[in-house]
Parts: sequence; C-alpha cells; structure tokens
Amino acid sequence: MKRIAVFTSGGDSPGMNACIRAVVRTAVYHGVEVYGVLRGYSGLINGELLRMDSMSVSNIIQKGGTILKSARSQAFMTREGRERAYNNLLNYHIDGLIAIGGNGTFTGAMTFFEEFGIPTVGAPGTIDNDLFGTDFTIGYDTAVNTALEAIDKIRDTADSHERVFFIEVMGRDSGYIAIPCAIGGGAELVLVPEQKVTPEDVIETLKAGFSRSKTSFIVVVAEGETAGTAVAEIAARAKEAIPQMDARVSIIGHIQRGGSPTAADRLLASQMGIAAVEALLAGHKNEMVGVVNRQVCLTPFQQTIFRKKRINENFMKMVEILSV
Ligand code: F6P
Repeated sequence: MKRIAVFTSGGDSPGMNACIRAVVRTAVYHGVEVYGVLRGYSGLINGELLRMDSMSVSNIIQKGGTILKSARSQAFMTREGRERAYNNLLNYHIDGLIAIGGNGTFTGAMTFFEEFGIPTVGAPGTIDNDLFGTDFTIGYDTAVNTALEAIDKIRDTADSHERVFFIEVMGRDSGYIAIPCAIGGGAELVLVPEQKVTPEDVIETLKAGFSRSKTSFIVVVAEGETAGTAVAEIAARAKEAIPQMDARVSIIGHIQRGGSPTAADRLLASQMGIAAVEALLAGHKNEMVGVVNRQVCLTPFQQTIFRKKRINENFMKMVEILSV
C-alpha cells in the first residue's frame, strides 16, 4: 500500500482533527503518501482530494470540527455516485481509505468495498458513542462535558426559581450522552430511548419528589428519534398533571458537537488514528478500530453496524438512588 486517503463523514465531533493529524503523521512515519478528501463521500464523488503532509496537520490537535469538512451524502447511496468515487480514487492511485465517522459512514464503506474492492478501515468519530466495538467514540467525552457545563448553569435557575427543567441532550437513538449528564448533573430523572418510560412514570416521580419537599428538578431527556418534540410533549403532560409546577424546557443542541476536544478525546483520537493506518497497512479492511478495556481492537463493520451497544443498567439505577 503506497497511497491512502482519509476523510471525515457524518456529524462532526470534537477530536476528529486530532484523528486526522494522527492518520496523516502515521502514514508519513511509515513512508506512505496520504491524501485528504474534503466533505466526506461528496468529496470522493466530486474528486476533492488534496495531498497532505506532516505540516498540513500542524496546530489542529486542539481544534473542534474537522478541517476536512463533513457531509451526509445522498449521492453516495446510489451506484452511480459510488462509481464516480471509485474512478476518482483510480485517477489518484489511492490504495486504501481511512473513514472517520459513525454508522452511516461505515455502511457506505462496506458497500463500496463489496462493489469496487477498495479497502477501508474506520475510526469511530461521533459524539453519540453508539458504536458497537469501542467503549468510547471520538468526541463523546467532550460532548458530555459540554452538556454537563450547560446543565450546571441551568441548575442555578432551577434552584433559584424552584423550577422543573426538562433538558434535552443529543444522541440520535441512544442515551449514552444523557446518562452521564444525569448522574454528573444531579438529575432526578433520565429518559433514554433504550428504556421506555411513560409520561405517567415521569409524573409519579415528580409528585413523589414534591411530597419529599424537593423544590427543583432536573429531568435529562435524550433526544431519541423525535428530536425537539418528545421533550416538549413530556413537559406539557407533566404540567397538565401538576399545574402548580413551574416548568421549562431547554434544548442544549449543537453546542454539544463543537469546541476544543478534552484530553481524553485527543488521546483516544490519536490512538485510533495510528491504529487505523497500521491496520490498513497490515491488510485489514472493513473493520473499525476501537478501544475496549483500554486495549486497541478491531471490529468488522458488519458487527459495528448491526450490533447494538447496550447502555449500563447500573448507571440508570444510580440516577434513581442518588435522587432520593
Ligand atoms: O450523530 C450526531 C448527532 O449530533 C446526533 O446526536 C443528532 O441526532 C444528529 O447528529 C443531528 O444531526 P444534524 O447536525 O445533521 O442535525
């Protein structure tokens, strides 16, 4: 393998730049030429490739976002789009790809390999931490810390005004961001897609809290599949059942995706960038690098995509115990 390319795809996450840096420098270290693809799969289709060297990734380890830009490409979902991408890779003599992204990114890479035989190794870059095959994804730690900082601020108002705050955090289909935010933010309740709770359960918990003389509450709600509406609905139902309750909804939103990566994310991203290149050079393909129990490992895309990473039930119980 003489020439590889790296791209970021899907939602950006803090630490993607640290990972790009590690990929580029590891390639240079091993005497392999490296190209950066702009705008994920869209850039592959449109031939937006640029030669990178050690200096191209100077001064980016601390920056949020991705210098390579990111996109969710509809065109790559078509055979025609993938064929154009393949022809561009042929023109540039690219032998292998490093894809930094999430589930959708790896699904695209797997199809691309089946059709055109271009080997790809993935690095998990998403704030959601919903990928099977790694304990943590790049950007997750930063996102949790950002959300927690926001919750701490909201808590000041909740306490001063004796209010109930329903706070929505990100995590498309997963409660991975919500759970540590609830524990770390001292929430009374956490609602996640993996464990269905009815509005009646929420109302009961709030009533029980009021009867124990609690005057303010934090309810952390993972956005689930109905981003923006679920939290408002739950709050409205609770307000209807407990009219004297002073309630507000707060959606933390995209600030969770930005900002300078934490030390943990920079370390993880660097570790995964090195591991991804070395795996590709060693002949691996269709696999995602991960860190499980502090050990770097590889998981086939097939498993990463189709197996569900389970939430820690003990953490859910902790929220209940600690809000007594
Ligand atoms: O996958 C990362 C994520 O931030 C999810 O938590 C969220 O559901 C989604 O992306 C939002 O995507 P977009 O920025 O395209 O609205």
